[in-house]
Amino acid sequence: MALEVLIVGGGMIVHDQILPSMFHMQRQGRVGEIAVCNSRHETVRALAEAEGLLRAFPGQRFHGYPESGSAGPQPELFRERIARLAPRNLVVAAVPDQLHYEVVMEALRRDQHVLCVKPLVLRHSQAVEIAAVARQRQLLVATEYHKRFDDRSLMARRRYREGSFGEFRLGTACLLEKWYYRHSNFQNWMTAENSDAFTYIGCHYVDLVHFITGLLPVSVSVYGLLDRFPNGNQGYLWTDARVIWNNGACLNVQNALGFPDVAPGTNTQGLTMYCQGAADGALIAHSDQYRGLKYSYTTKPVGPGATIYTEPSPDYFQYVDLGGPGLVPVGYGYRSIEHIVTAATRVNAGDAARVLDEIDAAGILATPANSAYNEQVIEAARESIRNGGKEVKMGQASSPVL
Ligand SMILES: NC(=O)c1ccc[n+]([C@@H]2O[C@H](COP(=O)([O-])OP(=O)(O)OC[C@H]3O[C@@H](n4cnc5c(N)ncnc54)[C@H](O)[C@@H]3O)[C@@H](O)[C@H]2O)c1
Repeated sequence: MALEVLIVGGGMIVHDQILPSMFHMQRQGRVGEIAVCNSRHETVRALAEAEGLLRAFPGQRFHGYPESGSAGPQPELFRERIARLAPRNLVVAAVPDQLHYEVVMEALRRDQHVLCVKPLVLRHSQAVEIAAVARQRQLLVATEYHKRFDDRSLMARRRYREGSFGEFRLGTACLLEKWYYRHSNFQNWMTAENSDAFTYIGCHYVDLVHFITGLLPVSVSVYGLLDRFPNGNQGYLWTDARVIWNNGACLNVQNALGFPDVAPGTNTQGLTMYCQGAADGALIAHSDQYRGLKYSYTTKPVGPGATIYTEPSPDYFQYVDLGGPGLVPVGYGYRSIEHIVTAATRVNAGDAARVLDEIDAAGILATPANSAYNEQVIEAARESIRNGGKEVKMGQASSPVL
């Protein structure tokens, strides 16, 4: 049976990746009805009128909540919409980081599978609780770490685990989003008390190093620079993190909302891992932003951060014309959503406990049972950044995150 999908959220990630992926699976008959519940009707309306989505998915529609005519924001509406979904369908949590826990727990209480954007939650104890409730109700909870579905990550994982790279020793990663992100809705929630550049984007590379190597982080220190969003809110918009792993290896991760708007490409990002073999060094180096394409247009495209000369990534999420009708989403952004929907469908179709065990053990999908180290890192990172970058060991963050 095709899963019905309720997306809670409706901002950038829903527009850019989640909704088009679901629409494509609906077109293939693998997803049933789709609904989007935001706190504001205007956001749902803007999504319904988005030109790119209308062009790619002609004739396809989602049910939007709140419906037109609703007055004011309705931050609790998602509870009612989840309650109306028949059990064992799929809820997508795509709200700001600090709201994930409430949406995920509400979905589990109502017997729904969950796809949650990263990070799952901000406290390790919450991830442990979610893992226990999900297991008791035999439901899938998957955190959408889409970099895992980039083929280069899967290639590195396979070769590392075959022994081709020896042992990870030192690494450096970065992901800097463009400056214009500061002007988006982020300025209302990615503030110093809720998040920081490392928590928001650095978690991807911590997750990837585990995904490739199987190593676990043991301590974190994060130095952050407080900066101001255009609306005056304060945020740690530049961060430098150091993550120590259980074999003694060290990963440095730099993150910011600070890559120049005039620079080509949507951001700058990459991962280099220096490793040690029996008699020589070994190396994994991924340029994750520059993937070999150079485009110079005749006119500057519309949209924030758009440039006349650009270096687009063909690998994260693109629309291609395969003869229509509409356009087909391709890339690891799509494959990641597809993998999670397929996994939830498998859980419903088979022996749920056995399928969930297989998914946890395979470690390809991030579940709270196999990936809660991410929450330990975030919890320690939040404590560290508030204390000028002091080293915090996993499981020893002493103050509440929020
Ligand atoms: N690379 C990635 O994996 C990636 C990229 C971007 C965002 N994200 C994650 O996705 C989440 C959302 O990010 P975004 O970029 O879409 O942010 P956004 O600010 O563009 O959108 C968030 C949306 O949630 C809505 N919202 C807030 N409270 C709500 C509530 N109570 N009920 C319903 N809707 C509510 C807001 O109105 C807004 O439309 C964040 O957790 C972020 O970390 C992940």
